[in-house]
Amino acid sequence: MGSRKSAVVALTTVGALARRGERWFKNAGLVYGHGTTNARDEAIYLTLHALKLPLDHLPEKRAVTATQAAQVIKLFEQRILQRTPAAYLTHEAWLGKYRFYADERVIVPRSYIAELLLQNPALAWLAKSHVRRALDLCTGSGCLAVLLGKHFRHARIDAADISGDALAVASVNVRRHRLRKRISLVKSDYFRALGQRRYDLIISNPPYVRTAMMRTLPQEYQREPALALAGGSDGLDAVRIILTQAADHLNPGGLLIVECGHARERVERTWPRLPFLWPDTSGGDDCVFFLTRDELVRPGAMGVFGGRKSHSVSRRTSSASNSLN
Ligand SMILES: C[S@@+](CC[C@H](N)C(=O)[O-])C[C@H]1O[C@@H](n2cnc3c(N)ncnc32)[C@H](O)[C@@H]1O
Repeated sequence: MGSRKSAVVALTTVGALARRGERWFKNAGLVYGHGTTNARDEAIYLTLHALKLPLDHLPEKRAVTATQAAQVIKLFEQRILQRTPAAYLTHEAWLGKYRFYADERVIVPRSYIAELLLQNPALAWLAKSHVRRALDLCTGSGCLAVLLGKHFRHARIDAADISGDALAVASVNVRRHRLRKRISLVKSDYFRALGQRRYDLIISNPPYVRTAMMRTLPQEYQREPALALAGGSDGLDAVRIILTQAADHLNPGGLLIVECGHARERVERTWPRLPFLWPDTSGGDDCVFFLTRDELVRPGAMGVFGGRKSHSVSRRTSSASNSLN
């Protein structure tokens, strides 16, 4: 990293600072995926944030004072030495044009479902549907509930999570986006506290990292709450509960949208009779599925085991998982 003092004296422009960060990050072998995907973008983001400059333009030649440079370098050092995701250092994460508060009580917002809500309103069902009641299950920071609120301007939304810490962060975001009148935060173990409530749309980005993968996660990901990531031995514990119970909470004609990692093969092997629809996302067409209520309640749709972990199902899914990763 070199001497901090000499770096502060030598760096004189925004562009030079960002390049220095990029070099340091590459040398340190950081891992990305919490808002940016590479060293350059990460360094530019932290530089612009620290200097309180707009994020859409890098004023390469703009001079920085020694004090400003020191602020940037401090962020670089924290990012490298603590392996802290940038969003936890800046307390913000962006989904499209929307800014969310984030800290270590929640996973950093980055869902493929956000992409579908933001960039793909052409998805026929979402564009045409008149959603009056929606549920964001496993809401974390509340980011997806807020996007639902923006997308469906007249809908009332429940945002549920088992973590009181997460709900505290969600309440900050709901308030900042002025959606307190339409979004209710509910402390709930999946559907448990929702009673008989029914929705036109249920979305969920639940925990879905397999137990074996949890142990090998890069340090940046280990800074996030394990509760938000750990999905059991085959990564499908949450999906299993959601698929079993969602129909009881969907209105006729209602839709379920679930993010499950790159688990399409595992999911389709476990529930071979469910006609999942896998929309394209930037992560591919194996990350998010759609199912209607009608498809969930069709006789035999859940299969003989209903997706429960029997010996045969576990063996099959674990070999499928090995070939996936
Ligand atoms: C992958 S994070 C998703 C957060 C948010 N939806 C997003 O996209 O950024 C999963 C969330 O599920 C919550 N969770 C874990 N187990 C749960 C349970 N049994 N019932 C409800 N929520 C749960 C965690 O607290 C975490 O906030």
